[in-house]
Amino acid sequence: MTSSALPKLTITRPDDWHLHLRDGDAMTTVLPHTAAQFARAIVMPNLKPPVTTTEQAAAYRQRILAALPDGMLFEPLMTLYLTDNTPPDEIRRAKDSGFVHAVKLYPAGATTNSDAGVTDLRKCYKTLEVMQEVGMPFLVHGEVTNPEIDLFDREAVFIETVMQPLRADMPELRVVFEHITTSEAAAYVAEATGPIAATITAHHLLYNRNEIFKGGIRPHYYCLPVLKRETHRLALVKAATSGNPRFFLGTDSAPHAKGVKEHACGCAGCYTALHAMELYAQAFDQVGALDKLEGFASFYGPDFYRLPRNTSTLTMKREAWTLPAELSYLDGSLVPLNGGEVMQWKAV
Ligand code: NCD
Ligand code: ZN
Repeated sequence: MTSSALPKLTITRPDDWHLHLRDGDAMTTVLPHTAAQFARAIVMPNLKPPVTTTEQAAAYRQRILAALPDGMLFEPLMTLYLTDNTPPDEIRRAKDSGFVHAVKLYPAGATTNSDAGVTDLRKCYKTLEVMQEVGMPFLVHGEVTNPEIDLFDREAVFIETVMQPLRADMPELRVVFEHITTSEAAAYVAEATGPIAATITAHHLLYNRNEIFKGGIRPHYYCLPVLKRETHRLALVKAATSGNPRFFLGTDSAPHAKGVKEHACGCAGCYTALHAMELYAQAFDQVGALDKLEGFASFYGPDFYRLPRNTSTLTMKREAWTLPAELSYLDGSLVPLNGGEVMQWKAV
């Protein structure tokens, strides 16, 4: 499809290549939202305790499938949480399982539930070498954690101090630079040699950091990596709508109860699973690039992960509707990003 004036858009069913499903009752609430729009999702392993073994991933996968409402089709693509002590053998077990599709790097202290993360990537080299050998994708939360580095510079500094040395040492390692937020990351991924790609969230395509402070502090716009300046947002939009297969969809939808978001020390994470494709459609539509949405949302992800593309479809209509302000969640509620606002697209 080419004209942005068309009232309807049908694309191959998309997948979400970066998702937080949580566990237990929280998962029961959020899973149907993702399954309504996406055929598959790469499920983040930052539970408490984290999913560090293939055995734990198998059990988590079963809990996800058990929580899926009858009649909904959805395939969870599992990941392992890399620690300083992940043995190389664990990668072989993960590869042999057929259901673990990637290993995630959380630099220790970088984000929600990252205490067990990696303190120094050099401790993991034996394990990373096996990942390189068997073609296991390495999903990188690309921010340094040094408190002396300005929060807004953490991704750019990571590229120079961690990403470039790592990829020089392991040129065949398949790397996904997760939820990129800067022009530096977009340029690095576009220009680098070797097997690298990046996911981009809908909120980083739609908003810059002003959104967090518009008329007062707005915690539902706080996520990590944090929203950046407008120049960076524009670079991300350009990358996502370029048709370059190195850039694909990852919502990073990350539910936190209202009470811990609207708090003196609020949690990082935006909840977008409810209206993910509507947000992406809006971001692409805004720049007249709806014709590029299908590649970004439905083709380039499976191609990178060496999985088949989906055969079913998703249809969206250009139609105004109001997103619920809050959803019932655990003992309280969950506030979706844009809760109570009018959306321009609607998935049918
Ligand atoms: C994520 C979460 O809450 O698990 N939060 C976020 O702000 N994106 C963790 C992450 O992906 O960094
Ligand atoms: Zn995430």
